[in-house]
Amino acid sequence: MPEQVKVGVIGAGKIFPAYVAGCRAFSILELAAVADVDTDRAAQQAAEHGVPRALSVDALLADPAIQIVVNLTVPKVHAAVSLAAIAAGKHVYSEKPLAITRADGLQILHAAAAQGVRVGCAPDTFLGGGQQTCRKLIDDGWIGEPVAAVAFMTGHGPEGWHPNPDFFYQVGGGPLLDMAPYYLTSLVNLLGPVRRVAGSSRISFPERVATSPEHFGRRLPVEVSTHVAALLDFAAGPIATLITSFDVWHASLPRIEIYGSAGTLSVPDPNIFGGVVRVRRAGAAEWSDVPLLFDAEVGRGIGVADLAYAISSGRPQRASAELAFHVLDVMTAVEESSAEARHVLLGSTCARPEPLPLGLLRGELDE
Ligand SMILES: NC(=O)c1ccc[n+]([C@@H]2O[C@H](COP(=O)([O-])OP(=O)(O)OC[C@H]3O[C@@H](n4cnc5c(N)ncnc54)[C@H](O)[C@@H]3O)[C@@H](O)[C@H]2O)c1
Repeated sequence: MPEQVKVGVIGAGKIFPAYVAGCRAFSILELAAVADVDTDRAAQQAAEHGVPRALSVDALLADPAIQIVVNLTVPKVHAAVSLAAIAAGKHVYSEKPLAITRADGLQILHAAAAQGVRVGCAPDTFLGGGQQTCRKLIDDGWIGEPVAAVAFMTGHGPEGWHPNPDFFYQVGGGPLLDMAPYYLTSLVNLLGPVRRVAGSSRISFPERVATSPEHFGRRLPVEVSTHVAALLDFAAGPIATLITSFDVWHASLPRIEIYGSAGTLSVPDPNIFGGVVRVRRAGAAEWSDVPLLFDAEVGRGIGVADLAYAISSGRPQRASAELAFHVLDVMTAVEESSAEARHVLLGSTCARPEPLPLGLLRGELDE
């Protein structure tokens, strides 16, 4: 068993408790401290969730015992917070998106390489039992050669439930940067990197009205596209259709389907770790549910644990900054394509992350 790695979290908001629970499920991780610009919030979350220390951001970064900084701030400051952690000599695991511009994403990659530290990035849901079972089915040839895919995220936005809904409609938010990372990371894990994209996007409503109890009736100006449709040509050949939308009240679309030369794979919601995996091979009269071959009970934190194992053994981390940068490049290209009325060829690529091995014990990963 490798040595425990001390983790400091920056950003003590809505998603913080999920990371506390998720990280605690892995004995390689020791949650040592939490920080937030809102120091009261950090102190309150630390007390509520039993995190030993609530610190200022500067104090957390200056603590030599902290090895990994988990960045759970809002998207528009992801890059600044990750770069500060890298400059302090810390490994980083960031919430998605890695950054909100290609330039900032590249700066993170270069700074990490120069400092000799690792950067990982959410989502890590592709390491859950649902998505890993799909990966094994594809790699083992159950649907033959993938030729096409669809991915649909349709909803009416988070202003009805999120306590701080503003960032979802500001630059860096929207259904593309906020939600497409789940769908695109799943597709890249299953099909490999994307070669070129075409996109159309719009702001359907110039303002939204919060209906969460904390902000009922408050108007939220909309700075980013809220309905985005895209075509993605994968380097290996498949063509995917992607819709991400905060403008749809009701739909009966699948989340992700992969169409292969020998059958179809129904992939569960890529925003969760489990879900139902279904296959229908050519000639089959019915869909078959496939038992999950990997743990579906893990949560947000498996990506941090995988980073800790990777640092300890020297192997690549699966939820890597390279993968997240490629996903950011795809999303940026979708908006460029829409604005410029042309296909956009991608400048980045990445390797498919290594699949998880079968038979891992709960709370452990491969070294
Ligand atoms: N809420 C969810 O369900 C959810 C799910 C998955 C991923 N995420 C992602 O997690 C991240 C955080 O989301 P959230 O919902 O917890 O947001 P949130 O607004 O509830 O929390 C963000 C926290 O970051 C702090 N913060 C902002 N700027 C900071 C800075 N410069 N330095 C230190 N702290 C700073 C804020 O004070 C706040 O406490 C986002 O990237 C989001 O996309 C959220």
